[in-house]
Amino acid sequence: MNAVNDNPTGRQDLKRQIRQLESIAALSGGIAHDYNNLLTAIMGNISLAQEYAKSDCKLSELLGQALAASQIAKILTRRLITFSKGGHPTKKPSDIVGVIENTAAFSLSGSNILCELGPSNGTWSAYIDPQQIGQAIHNLMINAAESMPSGGTVFINFENTTTDSPNSILAPGRYIDIAIRDQGVGIPAEHIEKIFDPYFSTKAKGAIKGTGLGLSISHSIISNHGGEITVCSRVGTGTTFHVLLPAAEAAADLVQLVNAEEKSEISVQPVMGQGRILVMDDEAMIRELAGNILSHLGYDADFAEEGQCAVRKYQAALDASAPYDAVILDLTIKGGMGGQETIEMLKEIDPSVKAIVSSGYSDNPVIANYKQYGFCEVVAKPYEMVEFSQKLYRVVNDT
Ligand SMILES: Nc1ncnc2c1ncn2[C@@H]1O[C@H](COP(=O)(O)OP(=O)(O)O)[C@@H](O)[C@H]1O
Ligand SMILES: [Mg+2]
Repeated sequence: MNAVNDNPTGRQDLKRQIRQLESIAALSGGIAHDYNNLLTAIMGNISLAQEYAKSDCKLSELLGQALAASQIAKILTRRLITFSKGGHPTKKPSDIVGVIENTAAFSLSGSNILCELGPSNGTWSAYIDPQQIGQAIHNLMINAAESMPSGGTVFINFENTTTDSPNSILAPGRYIDIAIRDQGVGIPAEHIEKIFDPYFSTKAKGAIKGTGLGLSISHSIISNHGGEITVCSRVGTGTTFHVLLPAAEAAADLVQLVNAEEKSEISVQPVMGQGRILVMDDEAMIRELAGNILSHLGYDADFAEEGQCAVRKYQAALDASAPYDAVILDLTIKGGMGGQETIEMLKEIDPSVKAIVSSGYSDNPVIANYKQYGFCEVVAKPYEMVEFSQKLYRVVNDT
């Protein structure tokens, strides 16, 4: 966290800031996970209610507004989870220029801000989690846009660089230096040391704007990648953030590059189906919601609170020649056997078991590599009915 503005951050200050960030990260991470579960129930029930309210315009509209508000809550929760220790990056060699281009286009869409990208031919690929880095860059783009209320341009430049200086906090190696420069109001010297502090904001408080979490999250993500973020600013002229990210190893460059934009399958209609589904979740609220959604979709649902119980029920159903068509397993069960161990035991009983993993910890390696762990699909909590119904249908029907 190097804040460059005549007065570089001292080592003591840096240590204090890191300690402060760590304790806040731990605290907010815990709250965010609980909150995420609550949101799963809220959003799931609203989207279910929307199905029943189709014939009533006013009711549909009100439910739509409730869902839109929950979606903002989901974004905030997502930010907190990324910020907390739960947000371990799932790194892969990635086309950093593509990630930045897509993020900039998304962040600035509908605004009066232009974006100009410098030459990027020959820019190394980066060893990053494209989603997390997308989030870190998004926060910078939003700040740049907010610093230019009457419009302007954000300039982004890429440079390959190699570090071997013993004074650097970076490990020696190859990096990509991304410079993001705005023509905004700038940051006064008395603020520059504080901008990476959680909850430091000079903006009016709002649901998303003015939380003071944007830069602390970007900083936390970039440090978790072994990178560095620094800032130079001049009041009245503008601000430049430099983000240094490790380059992918030369051999890894050959690995297929992963584009940040993952295909999203959006359809408005839930897909109906049939079959017996076993749902394992430790939260009664989530089991009840899943039961409601499943019966609405045409499935028969059965429930387990934790892994041992799920395995017993699965075995009993097999013995009774009435096997489950799919199981939905929560990854983390408080005080019980979670999804990862459960799938291992189920595979022993029935190697062809069809399992979906569900979790609010979407940065968990099991979620990122669910197939390696034996799952067919993943549904991230909070889930909505349409996505849930499509995935379940595909799993049950092998499509
Ligand atoms: N590009 C920028 N130009 C001017 N000020 C900035 C810029 N980026 C960050 N800041 C300052 O840093 C503060 C913290 O930013 P951030 O952590 O994203 O929180 P928030 O945007 O919610 O205020 C902002 O309130 C603003 O004062
Ligand atoms: Mg911000």
